[in-house]
This record gives sequence, structure tokens and C-alpha cells, in this order.
Amino acid sequence: MIGYAFMGAAHSQAWRTVNRVFDLPVRARMAAICGRDESKVAEAADRLGWESHTTDWRALVARDDIDVIDICTPGDSHAEIAQAALAAGKHVLCEKPLANTAEEAREMTAAAEAARAAGVLAMCGFNYRRVPAIALMRQLVQAGRLGVIRHVRASYLQDWIVDPQFPLVWRLQKDKAGSGALGDIGAHIIDTTQYITGQRITAVSGLTETFVPERPLPVQASGLAASAGGGPDGAAPATGPVTVDDAALFLARLDGGAIGTYEATRFATGRKNGIRIEINGSLGTVAFDFERMNELEFYDATLPSQEQGFSRILVTEPDHPYLSAWWPAGHLIGYEHSFTHQARDFLEALATGVDPSPSFADALQVQLVLDAVERSAEQQAWIAVESALTAANA
Ligand SMILES: NC(=O)c1ccc[n+]([C@@H]2O[C@H](COP(=O)([O-])OP(=O)(O)OC[C@H]3O[C@@H](n4cnc5c(N)ncnc54)[C@H](O)[C@@H]3O)[C@@H](O)[C@H]2O)c1
Repeated sequence: MIGYAFMGAAHSQAWRTVNRVFDLPVRARMAAICGRDESKVAEAADRLGWESHTTDWRALVARDDIDVIDICTPGDSHAEIAQAALAAGKHVLCEKPLANTAEEAREMTAAAEAARAAGVLAMCGFNYRRVPAIALMRQLVQAGRLGVIRHVRASYLQDWIVDPQFPLVWRLQKDKAGSGALGDIGAHIIDTTQYITGQRITAVSGLTETFVPERPLPVQASGLAASAGGGPDGAAPATGPVTVDDAALFLARLDGGAIGTYEATRFATGRKNGIRIEINGSLGTVAFDFERMNELEFYDATLPSQEQGFSRILVTEPDHPYLSAWWPAGHLIGYEHSFTHQARDFLEALATGVDPSPSFADALQVQLVLDAVERSAEQQAWIAVESALTAANA
């Protein structure tokens, strides 16, 4: 695994847990972790449960006893690491968004498709698909319980940069992150709603905004106590430009006839990690709120009118997705479990040789939606989303 901070910890938790919970034909061995700082990565290896550590990801890719490379770094290194790993015959799990640009995502998808011929598999880490209530939404749609899907309504709301003094971390720099709220959290609701509905976004009309265009440089990057309010000799604190969106909104058309509204922002004061998804169909509605992630609201319009109304499904039954492996019904699970489910599905794909999902091609399609939203916002026009199939072969 490469990267040992937020996602590194979440994935480590999953690798540590997956074989203790799920009965799988293969076992994960946590062979090695990589980071750039020797002492910090050594400490992380010890804390997170890895057998060894290194500061050079190329050393991991070169090791014969390593079968899987798990990429948990910012987007600026996904393409290089993934392509090197695939070329070396390693299966790859890569965090979302797949890349920083559509061009990189195309190259990664082409590399994954070439590696596939040699039995090497690749998957992108859109973990919210693996929240049981979200997987159940998909099952309800697939079973026809919603009828014809008319509306997709999705928002992903955070507030961690409302303070203009919050420093210019990598997520606010285009060369490191690719985009802002759009790619970081908008990508999740794009993938998740497409997964639930089985429909793909074909055209978008977008709007992006950067409310705070300059921010103090992080202390470690500038060497200045920027967040303390001043540079040397009372000089103004060093600042730098925010080069990504703080918020992104878009309207969408989907290929099954549905229309959608999407909102991703880091400026929704009070909303910490608020994900809401509602799907309205001709026969019913399902609605999900991440703050109540073990529940699903379901409205069944086929019931007699006297009985119609939103019902609350507690998604903890053993016949709900993933849940038979966990606790008795009614004993809730949390955020981290989505990563264990992701590790489970990935290991099962490796053991059976069946392509894991979302594939790099699926993640490329999400990237093409991100790209279309940015261009739409720039041009103030509807933009068609390029087909991922065409893009991968371009
Ligand atoms: N699935 C999710 O819900 C979710 C949540 C957060 C982040 N992410 C994604 O995970 C990825 C990492 O985000 P994060 O929040 O863990 O970031 P982070 O800043 O918490 O951690 C990044 C890690 O990568 C390391 N790193 C950076 N560049 C490196 C390089 N060139 N070589 C080796 N190590 C390097 C850093 O030292 C750090 O350990 C991003 O793609 C992000 O979009 C996904």
C-alpha cells in the first residue's frame, strides 16, 4: 500500500479485518507500506499492522512477493504508480478519483485493459457503493420496484474550508488534486448514482465557484507560521492561490431517460460529510442520508393509497448486501465497513478472475463527467460526456 494517512488508515483497517469477517478463497497479507518520510512511514507500518515499510514505491512494485498494489496517495501520483504496477503484473486497487485528468485516466484504462489480457486486474476505490443501504438501493432499482427512473438528486456537502484562514493543503491545488469539491466528493455521488440507477450521465450543465481564491500556505510548505498570522519581521503571511473549485453544481441527463441534479461543496457550513441521494421513479422513491447510513427510506406507490407513505428500512438484515458476515440484525455498522466490503469484493475478484467493479473504464467514465462539468462551467454551455469506450480507445 502506498500512502498511510486518511485512506491509508481506512484501507489498512479493511485489509486487517477482511479475512476475519468474510470467508474468502484468498488471504490478504499486509506485506509492505510506502510513504515519503522514513520515520513517519515506519511509525505508520507499526501502528497500522504492516510487515515492512519503504520510502520508494518502485521498490514495492519490483518485489516478487507482492501481488497487489493499493494506491492511497493524492491524484498526482495515481497514473504513474498504477501504470508501473500493472506493467509489473501487479493487481491494482486505486483510490478515487482515478486520475487528475481525463487524459491520465485514459492512459490508465488502456494500461489496465492491456494487463487484463495477462490476468492482471484493476479496480477503483469508490467505497460508497459498498455501503449496504446503497447496494440495496441498486437492488430495488434492478428489481423494478421504482419503475421508470425520472429523477436523480444527489448532494455531497462538507464545510472544512469555510474558514478563509484554513491553509492551502494539497486538496486545494489543481496540480495535486486535479479539481476541488468536484473530483474529491462530486466523483463519489456521480459513481454512486450511476451504480444505483444503472444509468450513465451523458450530458451536463455545470457551475463551479471558488469562494476563497487565496489561502495561507501550510506551515511545513512555506517554513512560515502562516496560520499564526504573519511572516518574518511582521511581513504579511505567505499565501498562495486556490486553483480548484470550492463548490460544483450541475444538471445532468442520464442515458436511461432520467434527469439529475448534483451538488458538491466544501462550504456547506455545519455539514461535515453529508451525502444525500434520492431517486424518484414511476412506482416509488428511495432516499439515503449518510448520517443514517444503516437506513433507507422507501416509498412504494404500488400499495393501496391508504397505506402509502415513506417506510424506514433498517438495513441490517442478513439478507441485505454484505450483512450476513457481520452482527445480528439491528447491530449497526459504520463508515469503515465500506472499505472492508471493498477489500472483500476485490479479493474475491482476484480469486475468481472475474473483473472487479468499478473497473478503471468505469472510473474513466466518471472522470469524463468531471471533465465535462469543468468545461461546461467554463463555457456556460451544456456539454456532452464523451463515451468512455471511445475515450479508452482514442
Ligand atoms: N474513498 C474515500 O472515501 C476517500 C476519502 C478520502 C480520500 N480519498 C482519496 O484517497 C487518496 C488519498 O487521499 P487521503 O485523504 O488519504 O490523503 P492524505 O493527505 O490523508 O494522505 C496522502 C498520503 O499519500 C502520501 N503521499 C503523497 N504523495 C506521495 C508519493 N508521491 N509517494 C508516496 N506517498 C505519497 C502522503 O505522505 C500521505 O501518507 C486521494 O485520491 C483521495 O481522493 C478517498
